[in-house]
Amino acid sequence: MKRFIINGGNRIYGETKIQGSKNSVLPILAATVLIRGETVIENCPDISDVDATVKILKYLGCTVKREGHTITVDSTNADKYDIPDELMREMRSSVVFLGAIIGRMGKASLSTPGGCEIGLRPIDLHLDAIQKFGVNIREEFAKIDFETVNKLEGTRIALSFPSVGATENIILTACTAKGTTVITNAAREPEISDLADFLNSCGARISGTGEGTVTVEGVEQLHGVKYKVIPDRIVAATYMAAAAMTHGRIHITGVIPAHIAPVIPVFEEAGCDISIKGSELSLSAPPMLKGIKTVRTMPYPGFPTDMQAQIMAMTTLCHGTSVIIETIFESRYKHVSELLRFGAKIRVDGRMAVIEGIKNLTGASVIASDLRGGAALVLAGLAADGTTTVNETGYINRGYEDMCGVLTSLGCDIKLDEREIKNDSDDKN
Ligand code: UD1
Repeated sequence: MKRFIINGGNRIYGETKIQGSKNSVLPILAATVLIRGETVIENCPDISDVDATVKILKYLGCTVKREGHTITVDSTNADKYDIPDELMREMRSSVVFLGAIIGRMGKASLSTPGGCEIGLRPIDLHLDAIQKFGVNIREEFAKIDFETVNKLEGTRIALSFPSVGATENIILTACTAKGTTVITNAAREPEISDLADFLNSCGARISGTGEGTVTVEGVEQLHGVKYKVIPDRIVAATYMAAAAMTHGRIHITGVIPAHIAPVIPVFEEAGCDISIKGSELSLSAPPMLKGIKTVRTMPYPGFPTDMQAQIMAMTTLCHGTSVIIETIFESRYKHVSELLRFGAKIRVDGRMAVIEGIKNLTGASVIASDLRGGAALVLAGLAADGTTTVNETGYINRGYEDMCGVLTSLGCDIKLDEREIKNDSDDKN
């Protein structure tokens, strides 16, 4: 079990370049299964979810070469259409392979992605949509088999909720299906536009991403390209929160400011000064942060659920009362019990959290239980008095490339401890 040891209290001060987007690179890598030929993907972050995706690609029969942040995939000889249970479990977003495998092979066999640390993550919207392309679905225990009856046929799909993963799977299935597919109430996240931009550069015909109604005109086949993944808006916003909480100043390069727009008003309400020039953003924090009236997580362009935990960590130090309402996932408050260990004052009632800001957090020993919640605990540790240990940092490495190195370069006192801690019960044997 790896852990971060943080001596809190240092102000963040400095510049950092933002890594490639996790939520873009995963579906884009999965999409390479559709392409007979070589595809070069640049700006791939060095995170464990990318490792897990590469494992799946190799299992499917793709040739994968990784050099620094560039991943080259050749799917010419891909011949498998199943994903073994242990690979499905390693990364819950492996479900995004579904559309690509069906699009390429006409069939697929997956196990259901297991329960999750942020609440149930059903895939009913994915299954209902895939069925509409003329795919028969057989569910048996935890295994789901997909078989195309004739050829995949374009269709009309009205999503009851703008699910990110379902929208991606539908786009992937539709790319080489016969005829046109129209998705209404599609998710509008920038990562979906990135996936579509990538697929269009490979010869796909996708329009309307970012607008709610997406049209995909099926094409015969896709060809390989070189493509660069967009920067990670959630990582950028996480480091903005770190700077805000430590009364620091951060200069972030390589961002797409429009993608950060949904979080900027929250930092401004807290009293931070933000300036943007081209692809660079600076945040300067006041000596005392102000409370946030209400933050409600919403599908893009609303406030991202992936920033809820980090903003909660920030509000623990904002003067006055802040309210957070989580509308996307039903159980995404696992970090609350750990934030309380720092002395934070948080009450949760269903999907609403009320945070009474306090003057100082006190260092604590805490356990990460999901990616963004884990990041929130690191932020609390950076701002807290004394020493903090954040255990189970493997979750954080799923989405943040070298968080320890980045924060150290920004002036924080944080170390990665990889020693195995002996369990008490070991001594009894
Ligand atoms: C993606 C992101 C994740 C982000 C989330 C919401 C990736 C790899 N992950 O996850 O970081 O937190 O979007 O912005 O891009 N739902 C159903 N049935 C379904 C599908 C979803 O009920 O078939 C529900 C989910 O339980 C959840 C909500 O819809 O409550 C949002 O899920 P969705 O947008 O699909 O998120 P993911 O694609 O899993």
